[in-house]
Amino acid sequence: MTRIIAIANQKGGVGKTTTTINLGAGLAERGRSVLLIDLDPQASLTLALGTQPAPAEAEPATRTRAATAYDVLLRSSRGQAEPFAGAIQPTASGLWLTPASIELSAAEIDLVREPLGVFALRDCLDTVPDRFDYVLLDCPPSLGILTANALAAASGVIIPLQADYLALRGVDLLLNTIAKMQKRANPNLAVLAILLTLADLRTVHAREVIAAAHATFGERVPVLEAVVPFSVRVKEAPLAQASVLEYASDSPAAAAYRKLAEFVDP
Ligand SMILES: Nc1ncnc2c1ncn2[C@@H]1O[C@H](COP(=O)(O)OP(=O)(O)O)[C@@H](O)[C@H]1O
Ligand SMILES: [Mg+2]
Repeated sequence: MTRIIAIANQKGGVGKTTTTINLGAGLAERGRSVLLIDLDPQASLTLALGTQPAPAEAEPATRTRAATAYDVLLRSSRGQAEPFAGAIQPTASGLWLTPASIELSAAEIDLVREPLGVFALRDCLDTVPDRFDYVLLDCPPSLGILTANALAAASGVIIPLQADYLALRGVDLLLNTIAKMQKRANPNLAVLAILLTLADLRTVHAREVIAAAHATFGERVPVLEAVVPFSVRVKEAPLAQASVLEYASDSPAAAAYRKLAEFVDP
């Protein structure tokens, strides 16, 4: 059975997209087949992994664009068959991608207007081909309808948390939203883990924040021992259209993401 995992945190820049790619890569190293769905209208996941568009002169005038997460959600809410048709693309990393586009912000408006718009994604995920072991949902930096769609569809959520004092403060809001979702829409949803990211481990501040995360959330949610350090290698990897597991395979960041993959897929 395909396992659906959302990577969520309403704060931007905390490592959601990076975690989506590198958890995906870690699962792929473990022999799993993984589909990543970009639910952020800013499309960072798509840009980091997406296949380069063909050079303009090589494009036939009638070139049709690839289907995106926007099309999938729209087709699903219209009850169309095969919502994922044309929306699952191979990437250089061996991961599969349902790309995003800026149109996703239009989907947000449509889905909010629709009475059961929160279930558009859940309704169509069972049409994802069986060969996928995992579907990872890269959420946008908000608690709007797209994140709600991800939380309604997933069986687990991973919360990347920047090892920064102010970042800790948003987690309660997210955990409350998840609790509401569990109660009202998705009793199967479990918080799998909090993953500390972007940690400058040379600083006392980062170590204090890590200790505070364990103290504050550790009883409610597993806070992973593996911490993703701040590393320029992580920033560079998307330029090479690679995961950090490929780009800097021996780096501590790659090791932390391998630990996360092992935790998810023991
Ligand atoms: N461990 C890390 N070390 C250094 N830079 C990182 C790390 N994780 C993420 N980044 C960078 O931080 C920025 C935000 O990360 P991203 O994964 O896009 O966050 P989000 O999806 O939560 O907005 C990106 O430029 C990314 O390359
Ligand atoms: Mg992102």
